[in-house]
Amino acid sequence: MSKPRVAIVFGSDSDWPVMEQCVAKLRTFDLNPCVQIISAHRNPDLVAEFAKHAEADGIEIIIAAAGMSNALTGAIAAHTCLPVIGIPLVSGSLQGVDALLSTVQMPPGIPVACVSVGAAGAVNAALLAVQILARSDKQLAERYRTFKQEQAERVEAKNVALQGKLPK
Ligand code: RP5
Repeated sequence: MSKPRVAIVFGSDSDWPVMEQCVAKLRTFDLNPCVQIISAHRNPDLVAEFAKHAEADGIEIIIAAAGMSNALTGAIAAHTCLPVIGIPLVSGSLQGVDALLSTVQMPPGIPVACVSVGAAGAVNAALLAVQILARSDKQLAERYRTFKQEQAERVEAKNVALQGKLPK
């Protein structure tokens, strides 16, 4: 098995039902991410240590996700020069709006690429990571092109099926 090029971190095991979709999408491209639960508020030292060592460990992109105030994504970005993709997750009374605002509204100098809230974001974070890696990996670029083509074909097939069901 090749060494992980992507790390996926999230704040709690309660995030796993959504985050497993991120892992699964990366695996469809034969990328085997390193996956960790670490919490910016509950184990801040571990978060800093992880982020500081990720590049030396061979990681090229970090995907970070959390619900509620999502301090995790910003804390990771503060401690690394690697690109960080942030996923705001749905949790607590504000249903992801809190995490969205904290993920998207990073101060100048500490960028985070914020994707959609929740499951769509988990999938898109994986795809964005693939797109970034594909810039220097021709095989991955080809696989990504195939993915896009197949996705488009699935929509076309749905449209054809719909035409057959419309009342005459
Ligand atoms: C965040 O708080 C986690 O990422 C999770 O989305 C939320 C709730 O965590 P638990 O109380 O379920 O551990 O830090």
